[in-house]
Amino acid sequence: MNKLISALLALTISLPTLAERVNSNEMGGLESLRKQEVSVEPEAEYMKQDYQGPAMGRDFVDMPPLIPHSVDRYQVDKNANSCLRCHSMKNADKWGATRIAVSHYKNREGEQLADVAPNRYFCLTCHVPQKDARPLKKNTFEPVESLKKQ
Ligand code: HEC
Ligand code: HEC
Repeated sequence: MNKLISALLALTISLPTLAERVNSNEMGGLESLRKQEVSVEPEAEYMKQDYQGPAMGRDFVDMPPLIPHSVDRYQVDKNANSCLRCHSMKNADKWGATRIAVSHYKNREGEQLADVAPNRYFCLTCHVPQKDARPLKKNTFEPVESLKKQ
């Protein structure tokens, strides 16, 4: 009996743990975008530069447009929303900025509000500065004909 236990023990110790095997992709398990095992801390990538050229446009209907300018130091918290300083219906003309979409004045029940709906307040949850960067994951998505750039 003792022999059996030590044999089992030896086997368990020599086998890689299940977690290691899943991590190392042996079991067709986790593939990390960092191309490293999940337990390894990789070196930080270089900072991708903001692309402050002409707006990159939209690839599908209802895509939140990308931001064609830097957002460094623009405060968006419970005290202030600096995006609205330029993008609100009231201020947009003065700054030559695109007006915030009318959809942003409806709450999630679809009721029309007089001000930006709470679920649209944190602009950067949906809008991100455009970057001149390779996609993390290759894909074959094509915009519909009517949205294709010339
Ligand atoms: C100082 C004024 C100013 C501030 C502050 C500002 N923007 Fe802008 N934004 C502009 C202007 C002007 C444009 C138009 C630029 C252009 O078309 O080249 C623009 C363009 C955009 C667009 C593209 C709209 C479209 O239809 O293509 C988005 C999205 C946007 N801004 C989001 C934001 C967000 C989010 C913030 C806050 C983090 C912000 N902006 C803060 C002035 C501002
Ligand atoms: C929940 C996601 C979400 C949040 C949060 C959000 N937006 Fe948008 N935004 C969108 C989508 C989706 C569109 C495009 C569809 C539409 O017009 O509703 C859009 C469109 C826009 C446009 C272009 C309007 C036009 O007529 O071309 C501007 C400018 C804009 N948003 C600014 C903002 C600003 C400023 C904030 C923060 C106060 C904000 N958005 C918050 C999703 C969001």
